[in-house]
Amino acid sequence: MSSSCRRPANVFIGLAALALSAAPLLRAQATQYPNQPPLLVGAAWYPEQWPESQWDQDLDRMEAAHIDLVRVGEFAWSTMEPSEGHYDFGWLDRAIAAAAHHHICVVLGTPTAAPPAWLTTKYPQTLRVDENGRRAEHGNRQQFSFTDPKYRQFAHDIAEQMAIHFGHNPDVVGWQLDNEYAEPDFGPTAREQFHAWLQKKYGTIASLNRHWATAYWSQTYDNFDEIPVRQDRENPALLLEWKRFVSDTWKSYSENQIAAIRPHADPRQFITTNTMGWFDGFNEYTVHSVLDIAAWDDYISTDQYDYIDNGARHDLARGFKMKNFWVMETEPAFVNWRPTNNPLLKGQVRDMAWQAIGHGADAVEYWQWRSAPNGQEEYHGVLVGADGTPVPVYAEVQQVGEEFAKAGPAIAGTSPHSEVALVNDYDSRWAIDFQRHSAAFDPVNEIVAFYRPLREQSQAVDIISIDTPFDRYKVLELPALNVISQQTADRLMEYVRNGGHLLLGPRTGMKDEYNALQPERQPGPLMSFLGGRVDQFYALDSSVPVSGDFGSGTASIWAEQLSVQSPDTKVETRYGRSNGWLDDQPAVITRNVGRGSITYVGAWLDPATLSKLTAHLLDEAGVQPILSGVPEGVEVCRRSGDGKSVLILINHNSDPAQVALPKPMRDLIGSQASVNSVDLPGFGVAVLAPER
Ligand code: GLA
Repeated sequence: MSSSCRRPANVFIGLAALALSAAPLLRAQATQYPNQPPLLVGAAWYPEQWPESQWDQDLDRMEAAHIDLVRVGEFAWSTMEPSEGHYDFGWLDRAIAAAAHHHICVVLGTPTAAPPAWLTTKYPQTLRVDENGRRAEHGNRQQFSFTDPKYRQFAHDIAEQMAIHFGHNPDVVGWQLDNEYAEPDFGPTAREQFHAWLQKKYGTIASLNRHWATAYWSQTYDNFDEIPVRQDRENPALLLEWKRFVSDTWKSYSENQIAAIRPHADPRQFITTNTMGWFDGFNEYTVHSVLDIAAWDDYISTDQYDYIDNGARHDLARGFKMKNFWVMETEPAFVNWRPTNNPLLKGQVRDMAWQAIGHGADAVEYWQWRSAPNGQEEYHGVLVGADGTPVPVYAEVQQVGEEFAKAGPAIAGTSPHSEVALVNDYDSRWAIDFQRHSAAFDPVNEIVAFYRPLREQSQAVDIISIDTPFDRYKVLELPALNVISQQTADRLMEYVRNGGHLLLGPRTGMKDEYNALQPERQPGPLMSFLGGRVDQFYALDSSVPVSGDFGSGTASIWAEQLSVQSPDTKVETRYGRSNGWLDDQPAVITRNVGRGSITYVGAWLDPATLSKLTAHLLDEAGVQPILSGVPEGVEVCRRSGDGKSVLILINHNSDPAQVALPKPMRDLIGSQASVNSVDLPGFGVAVLAPER
């Protein structure tokens, strides 16, 4: 069957570009289907909320905004299966065909985040139970139990019916499972399954008692079914295992639907789910191991757009599958769920779209197309109002669509590449979070604190799991690898011996895989390799002076008193006068090992000091920025591959900025054919390719 949703290729990208987008060149692309526009703009569309007579007008306006893609179906369970076992996909067939008529492809969402009332009324065991034993009710969403076999069966059946119906539809390019997995269940089935999970892992209760050190507070268990199910105020080993169980359960929850879809779907249709940045409810690497691509929902994390923080979350998503990804949802200027839902400034929606591409997204989809006539999200940002006519941000998205179409062919098959990596480790983040010791020690803020100077100076950072091979990186940072196994320690030592430059942040190497204290002081199995250790850690209520090779600055929130055991381990920074314990003690120590090095940073350093330390590390490792002399607030992203290299420059400032180029380049979205230097207006973007 030939596809009708894609615009004819020459309308989009021209003949020369067509040659470039031939199949083997698309390796880096997150998804592949015939005539795929290399960069896609999309929107969440809920046709079930509107009379069919209005669909065409909506789709017309989407096409005019260069929208290539709609995500439909998620949350529409009561429309797809109005009563048990009676499916109605006719409306969805017509919606997909109407979209295709406007050259718009479809991602189908399985509707399992919003079970219909008939289902949960007849089978109340499918409703989740919270930690306090309260069962959820109908009326919101995510009210289901992710462990309940009956719910799994219903989820399987609706996904299977959808796949039988749409699995070979040429206009359906992929599947989104459910929506933003988040809420675990604490009910009887979850409890039973947790116990079985523990039994499988530990074999005997004696083994569990040993690893969890349950003699403490008389926690000793005689049977697995005595073990409580909690996510707070418990033995740290139990808390960590609960999170791992939740991660495995979301994985099997995904597998249940994948098993229903895959046998009936064309291989070109990808399967993913949409995730939430740094959200730590489960281990993203575990869940992504069964998905085809990563897709995340990019809503800025504070009231103001912090481009470094946002960029970190893109890099995080790229690391879930170590390849390009999709932004499945992003805000059309504002949301409805913050304390103050102030809008992005005019120009920042486009800025964010290009930032996503710069960090490796191949699609940017807005949530949502049109205000729903009613429901919990009436105030949320949209592209067209409830009347179906454009709101002001529509024009900005239209510009994004035009530019993606123009620059797409030069970007097809490219990805960001980095010489430096930073590890995101869920076990460690959880372990710290369970016992922060200082409420201000937010593990994500700490990761971003290390990421910030690394990104600013190297202009390309991979955020990876601890299981990713390290050998491709010149610099590897572990901001707080609190939980460390001997095997990981061995891999890290091997990395340094082979010439890698390793940086360990505070709290590294304190725990083993069971969240028990390491028998050695921090950094545990890396202590003798480092030739130094943590003598004591301290939570700080005020800042402490530090000085040394990176000038004078301060530490706050956390400071570890380090000591040096080996003659060739050097003290780079010391604390000044503070609480007595820390006075004049080492704060940063380093040891060279062959051509590599291991550095331990024992404190949460101020940004200027951390920046100088980062500069030193990058210099030692021979990491150069992509483009030097770039004004502050201008972000440089490079995507390369298949003999192409494209620079994306984004001025995140509201004032204009100028960037000098080492040699003339073509601006793919600007008015000039060749430029020596780029004048970027406030929130301006340039997409540059080498001259032919
Ligand atoms: C999430 C959900 C969407 C919508 C948006 C609103 O990302 O996935 O359904 O509720 O938030 O910002």
